[in-house]
Amino acid sequence: MLEKIIILDFGSQTTQLIARRLRELNVYCEIVPYNKFPHNDQSVIGVILSGSPFSVNDTEAFKPSLSEVRGKYPLLGICYGAQYLAYVSGGKVEKGDSREYGRARLNKIDGKDPLLQGISENSQVWMSHGDTITALPQNFKIIASTEDVNAAAYQVEGEKTWGVQFHPEVYHTEPGTQILDNFLKICGAKKDWTPQSFIETTVEKLKSQLGEDKVILALSGGVDSSVCAVLLNRAIGKNLTCIFVDNGLLRKNEFERVLEDYKHLGLNVLGIDAKEYFYRELAGVKEPERKRKIIGKGFIEVFEQESKKIEGVRWLGQGTIYPDVIESLSITGMTIKSHHNVGGLPEKMNLKLVEPLRLLFKDEVRRVGRELGMPENLIRRHPFPGPGLGVRILGDITPEKVRILQDADDIFIQGLRDWKLYDDVWQAGVILLPVNSVGVMGDERTYENAVALRAVTSTDAMTADWARLPYEFLAKISNEIINKVRGVNRVVYDVSSKPPSTIEWE
Ligand code: XMP
Repeated sequence: MLEKIIILDFGSQTTQLIARRLRELNVYCEIVPYNKFPHNDQSVIGVILSGSPFSVNDTEAFKPSLSEVRGKYPLLGICYGAQYLAYVSGGKVEKGDSREYGRARLNKIDGKDPLLQGISENSQVWMSHGDTITALPQNFKIIASTEDVNAAAYQVEGEKTWGVQFHPEVYHTEPGTQILDNFLKICGAKKDWTPQSFIETTVEKLKSQLGEDKVILALSGGVDSSVCAVLLNRAIGKNLTCIFVDNGLLRKNEFERVLEDYKHLGLNVLGIDAKEYFYRELAGVKEPERKRKIIGKGFIEVFEQESKKIEGVRWLGQGTIYPDVIESLSITGMTIKSHHNVGGLPEKMNLKLVEPLRLLFKDEVRRVGRELGMPENLIRRHPFPGPGLGVRILGDITPEKVRILQDADDIFIQGLRDWKLYDDVWQAGVILLPVNSVGVMGDERTYENAVALRAVTSTDAMTADWARLPYEFLAKISNEIINKVRGVNRVVYDVSSKPPSTIEWE
């Protein structure tokens, strides 16, 4: 049985990071709401209490009973988690000195303590809470301090219980990985979470869950739906049918290229050319949200129509990943809704959902894809919005505008690849602006379209910064676009960050 660590979530922004760091150490873990500890789960080997936006002294703070956890499993409280453990045992937590936000240095380290094995004096740690523990309960022993915080780390005598005031999961905490790894040692972790073990157990599970049932899946060309398809294909082979729709808003030659990749992977894929239908539906529509709705609804219509041609389908496969699941897991409302990338389809078609990637982070999806032998170009593909070039043509959409944008985008993206810059940016693309400007070509005055280049760096698309691409590269691309793409005589580079801007312009 796959061992696991349970992370009880008290609402901190860094809870997801704890999970990612543990997974990087090859240990499977799950985030659950602070009061939803799984009863009778034999595979649990340890528990972590996360941080929280609250103070333990707030009336609305989360204060669950820890009787199922404490003394029963190795336990590590982080920030609020550490304060809460102290507080419920009779300790005192008070508003701290504001200087203890951010970087601090760990000293007076108890070198014999198993949690702090191998940690050097003066290592940098990251603090981010307004409160500190000012009085510890009797059997709580301080194992490290910082200049301003006496109880920076403690152990409860006679128990496998620890608390750290700082955040070992954030990258600014230099010995963070070592501390989490030490905790895993305390838990006796076998470290059996690898892409290979995930594939083996998932394929087995899918086989028994699906039996001889038929599954359909919508492919987008992106990494999540592609890895999902290859996994399902391993489990049920010909009973999986994939549908890949050309909505006329894909990148240049993307439809043919991706279809070819999929066929090489042995997938049973129906490529549906629905360009004309989408162009018809979108004709004259300028408002961004209306365009999004039309494209989404159009997709559902095409998908439904095509899937009706396949008999006896009972399941819809979907590439939902863990961040989507966590996002819909509300610790206050306590409901776990499933997150529908393909909005509304399962209900409309009366299908059950199968989501084999719902426990994986994006980087894990990529590792699984590699282990499944998928080509690097598919695995490293930049994210691309569902409505495609539809949200990058500002204003109404025509086939001619799509042609212009596809040509300009192709030059930009190919250029990034040729200059080995593609993997340095999170995503890139060109935006066709509803602006004409005057130019001169040869002896002729021109009055043509302006396009904007957009390239950003990011780790999760929640925040993003504009990519500092080399001037020589931008000069070359701008030249090439203006010379080769009929209808464009001006190129600008977008230097906005998110927030306050967004990645897409619409
Ligand atoms: P924004 O523009 O909100 O985008 O900064 C964040 C990420 O989401 C992508 N994006 C979309 N993806 N449907 C999608 O499937 C959409 O309507 C949509 N809008 C934005 C965007 O490309 C970026 O990766």
